[in-house]
Amino acid sequence: MLHAIEQRRAFRALDTKPIEKETLLHLIEAAATAPSGMNNQPWRFVTTTEPERLNALKETLSPGNYWAKRAPAIIAVVTNNEWSMKLGDRVYAPFEVGMATMALQIQAVSEGLIIHPIAGFNEGAAKEVLGISEEDSLMVLLILGYPGSEEGLSDKHRQGEHSARERFPLDRIHAFDGWTGEMNPKATT
Ligand SMILES: Cc1cc2nc3c(=O)[nH]c(=O)nc-3n(C[C@H](O)[C@H](O)[C@H](O)COP(=O)(O)O)c2cc1C
Repeated sequence: MLHAIEQRRAFRALDTKPIEKETLLHLIEAAATAPSGMNNQPWRFVTTTEPERLNALKETLSPGNYWAKRAPAIIAVVTNNEWSMKLGDRVYAPFEVGMATMALQIQAVSEGLIIHPIAGFNEGAAKEVLGISEEDSLMVLLILGYPGSEEGLSDKHRQGEHSARERFPLDRIHAFDGWTGEMNPKATT
């Protein structure tokens, strides 16, 4: 399983080839398996493939996300803190929608797709395009496509297609039996 999970990277070299509806629905099936407090399931997904709507959605992208304009499908991930369990200051909606979205992404990779989450878009404009209510949170757009050519990518993004994954060493994010100094985000070691 770890090997399968490791295949997911935020790649950008997309093919414009359409993705079958059946395949796209497998991703949502995977997302729907996620756990949630009181089984509230505070995740919603809107998948856009219809060309006119897709183009309108792409108009909301930040300039740095130019590469996403080749995507044949984009999934909007929506939640609202009111839809989940709350225990004091612990509001579970973002945590749970994150778990669901990770399952969705792993399934996408297993279907041979690139899937790349982005926050770089105009949220208000994107919600308007998709008919999502103002009070709900459009957390990310998941940019989808089969792997394609690197032509059209900036030099930086082309390099990114081949770079090693950058992550903290495990002892900065985990300890057995109690918190350690290394786990403080401000630790310099
Ligand atoms: C919430 C979120 C927002 C992101 N926004 C963008 C974005 O706007 N543009 C972009 O190119 N990548 C975006 N990314 C992708 C990250 O840059 C990428 O996941 C990170 O650099 C780690 O690389 P990896 O996923 O290949 O391991 C985002 C990822 C997440 C989870």
